[in-house]
Amino acid sequence: MDCSTAPLLENAHAFLVMRNLYAAAGRQLTLKFEVLNSEFNVLYARNPIHHIESRVKSPESIAAKLLKKGLPLTLESAMQNVNDIAGVRVVCSYIDDVYRVAEMVERQQDLEIVKRQDYIKTPNYNGYRSLHLDLRVPVYLSDRTEQVLAEVQIRTIAMDFWASLEHDIRYKADRSRLPAGINEEMLACAGKIAEIDRQMQDMYQRIKAAEAAPDA
Ligand code: GTP
Ligand code: MG
Repeated sequence: MDCSTAPLLENAHAFLVMRNLYAAAGRQLTLKFEVLNSEFNVLYARNPIHHIESRVKSPESIAAKLLKKGLPLTLESAMQNVNDIAGVRVVCSYIDDVYRVAEMVERQQDLEIVKRQDYIKTPNYNGYRSLHLDLRVPVYLSDRTEQVLAEVQIRTIAMDFWASLEHDIRYKADRSRLPAGINEEMLACAGKIAEIDRQMQDMYQRIKAAEAAPDA
């Protein structure tokens, strides 16, 4: 155990209760996306969602985030201040699917949208793209209902490709020895990938339009 996680794990039972709650929130959200995907498949014979990932943040990552923000290393503080203890990533085929899927969950009345960040319209300084929704999802327990905070990241396969490799490179790299120009190159790669994303979507739409056109 990393020493910074000690206060979080002091009360092992309370930690397990918390972990179970966030895992349940992740499962509830995953199910919602699965239901939307299968309904879409029945109606339109295609899946807007390529795959879904769900994880509960490790005690080490929770502690690191609290330390970085200068916040107390307690379970209460983590639950109040860390918005992505429960994280669900929805990877879609095309850019339009990202917004379609987001709209479908935004309409669900048992979900409260706390924050919406559109990093597709406005990418990060390094070219990161995704649509983030911080939301509260009800988790029905034996004697009460908890509104559990979770972060949903909705992105295309292409955005996921860039984000996964960039994350890998950033975490493995010794930042002080990063060769000059890497950040600029990363931004340029994100731009090229975004262009391909738009081109794939455009081709898909043209194919669909041709299929729907009446025979000459
Ligand atoms: P917190 O959500 O509290 O961290 O603050 P925030 O809302 O400003 O963060 P944001 O929603 O921008 O980022 C949260 C998550 O998005 C991160 O944990 C990553 O999973 C992902 N993310 C954000 N920026 C990047 C990036 O530049 N590269 C990669 N690979 N992922 C990113
Ligand atoms: Mg966020």
